Amino acid sequence: MNERFTGDIVYASVENPFNSGLRHKNFAFEVSGSLPILEERALYYGSYNDCDDWFSVISFGVCLILLAGSHPNARGHIMTQDELKRAVADAALAYIKSKLENDTVLGIGTGSTANLFIDALAKIKGQISATVASSEASAQRLKSHGIPVYELNTVDRVDFYVDGADESNHSLQLIKGGGAALTREKIITAVAQEFICIADESKLVQTLGQFPLPVEVIPMARSYVARELVKLGGDPIYREGVVTDNGNVILDVFNFSIEQPLAMEEMINNITGVVTNGLFALRPADVLLLGTAEGIKTLFAE
Ligand code: 5RP
Repeated sequence: MNERFTGDIVYASVENPFNSGLRHKNFAFEVSGSLPILEERALYYGSYNDCDDWFSVISFGVCLILLAGSHPNARGHIMTQDELKRAVADAALAYIKSKLENDTVLGIGTGSTANLFIDALAKIKGQISATVASSEASAQRLKSHGIPVYELNTVDRVDFYVDGADESNHSLQLIKGGGAALTREKIITAVAQEFICIADESKLVQTLGQFPLPVEVIPMARSYVARELVKLGGDPIYREGVVTDNGNVILDVFNFSIEQPLAMEEMINNITGVVTNGLFALRPADVLLLGTAEGIKTLFAE
């Protein structure tokens, strides 16, 4: 049997060992990235309808069984972080798909997981009437797929916001901003009716702060803000060469164990010159879709 994986569609062909002459059967199975193939509904595009003999039926079954063993999510395969991100992006698509209406406005985040979500969204772009993006990069990616992107000021609401995170605790309070898009992400989060966070399991932590906390700062206030962050117990490092979509700079605060995310978010935002910081505690995620080796877990705030 020959098989190859191309995203969500798996192709397979079987040669008939019982007959002389050239007799092949070609199959394509659509699978979700989140579950082993045998647990998924397999859609069959092959020649089943023009199945003329038992060979077709038997080879179809053989393909299914063999592919189940060789699919990346099959038992025994350790999924990479990228595979987990892809699985969770697919899960987010499934999560919102059933809730989409004609006038749904989707907020789209930034980063590698959000990029995979954008690519997944392209498959149903005919059902997407409006998106707003949390960065120029995401807006570009959406447009490249032909998905309509609007300015936030031109829409009266955002129904869902889908975005990744650098860390989440069990209250679904987050650290974000690894991609320097934290301010626009926080603005869309504030507007969104439902914030769906998508992340691989490495992002779930007990206490926030192992990931350096990004703080977006007006350029002329950089040194002053850094001194104030030191007073709060952190070690701020200037992210050199990075200018945000808003024309500002980023300080990454290392060695911060953030026991009180709500208070810390407010304290940092109160430093003059800070635009915003990457703590999403005042407005945490509503749901966290977490890609794990055991499959997708859906977490709500504890
Ligand atoms: C960008 C972000 C991202 O959501 C965060 O950095 C996670 O990125 P990735 O999905 O690439 O791991 O906040 O500003």
